Amino acid sequence: MCTGNAQEDYDFHTQVLGLKSVKKTALYDGTVPIYHLYYANDHGDESTILTSFPMRQSGRVGKKGSGQIASISLSVPESSLGFWRDHLRDAGYEHSERERFGEKMLVLTNPGGIEYELVGIADDERTPYAGGGIPPSFAIRGTHGVTVSVRDFETSMEFMETGWNGHRTAEEGDVIRYEVGDGGTGRIVDFKRDRDLPQGSWTFGEGTVHHVAFQVDSLDTQDSVKAHLEGLGYTDVSDRKDRGYFESVYVRTPGGALFEATVSKPEGFMIDEPYEQLGRDFQVPPVFAEQAEWIKSYLEPLNY
Ligand SMILES: [Fe+2]
Repeated sequence: MCTGNAQEDYDFHTQVLGLKSVKKTALYDGTVPIYHLYYANDHGDESTILTSFPMRQSGRVGKKGSGQIASISLSVPESSLGFWRDHLRDAGYEHSERERFGEKMLVLTNPGGIEYELVGIADDERTPYAGGGIPPSFAIRGTHGVTVSVRDFETSMEFMETGWNGHRTAEEGDVIRYEVGDGGTGRIVDFKRDRDLPQGSWTFGEGTVHHVAFQVDSLDTQDSVKAHLEGLGYTDVSDRKDRGYFESVYVRTPGGALFEATVSKPEGFMIDEPYEQLGRDFQVPPVFAEQAEWIKSYLEPLNY
């Protein structure tokens, strides 16, 4: 996500949502440093990770629109929605309520202008972070899915079915649901048809979601995904990029949103700091190692 002020972003995710900071680093791309803050469960397990690029310092603002991820949904226990209703109100976050495919949810906007849905799920076995001040019986289990805004469905359906191991599992009004892999919570992509919504921006810009990542199980599989996509004609697939904690390839999907296929490194987030200190101190990206002191002094202050 491209959010706003780093401190607001950090405080919201760690204090209001009760997630754990599992890494503080900077965006590995570009020439001007931008924070990259990771929030997740205790160990930063796949499917529990939200990450932010606080853009306010750069002054770069995004444009919401179609061809873009419109909202991010998080799984909470179905029985916790009452708790979250009160908790968000007490923290000063307005929310609305809606239902999609029989799932009840609270809808709010995070301080960076990104829409979040807290979706009540009855049987999510993932272990939540217990140290964030939210009772574990109510705490966020991980991601549930994303909603991608598209102007029409057809090219996205073709991409999901032929290129992205997706299975169409439901349709309701102007939304079609896909699930990837074994399906279920954490593996959901809803496509929302917004016929007349102009294309959103693709840059890193405050208030927009730049991309969504999907886990693949090995570098060999990642190679196959890339080769398969290119063979289908989706040649807008990046080379493999080393992101420190995982390795990524990116593809621009025909609907406009950017998808990432990522392989975790065995050490994961503990590659540069031990579990006991996970996410505590700023980690300079290896690509900027020679400019470490400059980056630390350049980035806006972040208290934690
Ligand atoms: Fe990513």
